[in-house]
Amino acid sequence: MSRKATITGLGKYIPPRVLTNKDLEKMVDTSDEWITTRTGIKERHLVEDGVSTSDIACDAAREALADAGLAVEDIDLIIVATVTPDMPFPSTACLVQEKLGAWNAAAFDLEAGCSGFVYSLAVAAQFIESGLYRNALVIGAEILSRITDWEDRSTCVLFGDGAGAAVIEATDKGGMLAFELGADGSGGKSLYIPAGGSLKPSSVTTIEEKGHFIRMEGNQVFKFAVKTMGYAALKVIEKAGLQPEDVDLFVPHQANTRIIQSAANKLKLPEEKVFVNLPKYGNTSSASVPIALAEAREEGLIKDGDIIVLVAFGAGLTWASTVIEWNEGE
Ligand code: COA
Repeated sequence: MSRKATITGLGKYIPPRVLTNKDLEKMVDTSDEWITTRTGIKERHLVEDGVSTSDIACDAAREALADAGLAVEDIDLIIVATVTPDMPFPSTACLVQEKLGAWNAAAFDLEAGCSGFVYSLAVAAQFIESGLYRNALVIGAEILSRITDWEDRSTCVLFGDGAGAAVIEATDKGGMLAFELGADGSGGKSLYIPAGGSLKPSSVTTIEEKGHFIRMEGNQVFKFAVKTMGYAALKVIEKAGLQPEDVDLFVPHQANTRIIQSAANKLKLPEEKVFVNLPKYGNTSSASVPIALAEAREEGLIKDGDIIVLVAFGAGLTWASTVIEWNEGE
């Protein structure tokens, strides 16, 4: 059997400051009842001023490294999945490398919206399976509060800040068995930030037009997500040579409980096999899957030999999924 990559350590960082639906009621024309029934979210965590994405990425990374029993100088590769880099360049991964002191690591960012972490797992797995690197640090980290228009009720209730990290190493037993990655660029305008790039550089006008904040056609993204999450999960399970009933835990991107429920229904999964922490954190984009995975393991829901399915969708539009036969090794 060919050598596979597996997750040998997990870490997460959740900022202490909490913003509840009740708090949002005082900021925009919304209600706890609307947010809860339409999304499932009750509260989200936000970083303080002055904290950057690379800072929280490092917090999650240090926890994952300790969990894996690796020293920083052991790291061969750092991939940071984010839509909220500290700055256009250098990459957040290079800033993380410097802050951690991981001088032996190659480093780059990967941008695939909320699918970024699972895309990055697939990329890291190629380096490990080929034998080019012994290990990789894959981080999903986001400060979405900085690209949120806090006067737009249709988006500001959805997002939160946070980071999750995983250490990837080779295994000869189990590991990441299959991947399904995809994109539909024709849906790009359903979820985007209009300004601040080469097309519309920052100017007084882009600021006046609020062009640096998230724009979203919620129902278009909703339809895409409902179609894609179930498809991507079923496809990757099939690629792994398994059946939906073999799945022990389903860890989906945490965007909306109605979207998660529809994907779980397609797989005919009972509630106890579907991990949901969305009510506490909202949508943390590429941090959502690693935070959920770390928390599921903390809660004792993952043990060696379990079949875990990760699936995400996001800006691009993109989707990504993987099946892991959990095996943390020694
Ligand atoms: N509070 C109260 N009312 C709100 C509101 C809020 N925070 N946000 C929107 N509304 C209103 C709308 O203005 C609309 O009013 P109208 O009917 O008078 O025009 C009404 O609620 C219904 O809006 P609609 O967009 O049809 O609701 P929905 O059932 O589609 O739910 C989302 C909206 C955003 C929760 C849902 O579309 C969604 O989750 N989409 C996916 C978003 C996502 O996951 N994005 C990230 C992808 S990684």
